[in-house]
Amino acid sequence: MTTPTIRDEATGDEGTIRSITTAAFVTVPYSQGTEAAIIDALRRDEALTVSLVALDEGEIVGHIAFSPATIDGEQRGWFGVGPLSVRPDRQNRGIGGSLVRAGLERLRALGAKGCVLVGKPNYYERFGFKADARLTLDGVPPQYFQALSFGGELPRGSVSFHPGFGAKDE
Ligand SMILES: CC(C)(COP(=O)(O)OP(=O)(O)OC[C@H]1O[C@@H](n2cnc3c(N)ncnc32)[C@H](O)[C@@H]1OP(=O)(O)O)[C@@H](O)C(=O)NCCC(=O)NCCS
Repeated sequence: MTTPTIRDEATGDEGTIRSITTAAFVTVPYSQGTEAAIIDALRRDEALTVSLVALDEGEIVGHIAFSPATIDGEQRGWFGVGPLSVRPDRQNRGIGGSLVRAGLERLRALGAKGCVLVGKPNYYERFGFKADARLTLDGVPPQYFQALSFGGELPRGSVSFHPGFGAKDE
């Protein structure tokens, strides 16, 4: 296991984040290859509420983004998690987990109510994420759409990620 240093994205990290994201998703079967473009679009729209990088021996080896999500069209203190990427040669050493935990802590400190993501249940359940029929995302099988409340009761409604998630590679 590696204990990476986690810090906020800084000016100049953009290109490395883009290449790590592209490299991480290139072998993911359900990926549309747009994850790096999504991060750029969120940044452009000032919607990267939290954007963290993981450093190992001074090099950026992972990244996670959090952006505002809406429920039934309203901002209710909920955030979308992702994209999450770890450089392929550094996967399975705990770096992804460190990024998720640090990001969740940051969101809690900002007063967020909770967050949602699309991902594999067997990875995200370790952080407390669970599919719940009260929150839905159009077009996504319910078991892959997972939510984590930071305390209050889970709201009910249809979630939309930030429009930046519609970005395509230029
Ligand atoms: C998914 C990802 C971010 C995990 O980061 P990581 O640093 O490799 O993961 P960690 O070391 O924190 O955790 C390792 C655990 O995750 C599991 N895991 C790794 N990749 C996984 C994946 N794609 N799906 C499900 N589980 C995965 C490992 O089997 C291991 O499980 P175990 O602890 O039960 O043995 C990383 O593998 C990655 O960048 N994958 C490609 C991009 C991607 O799929 N992003 C997430 C989209 S939902």
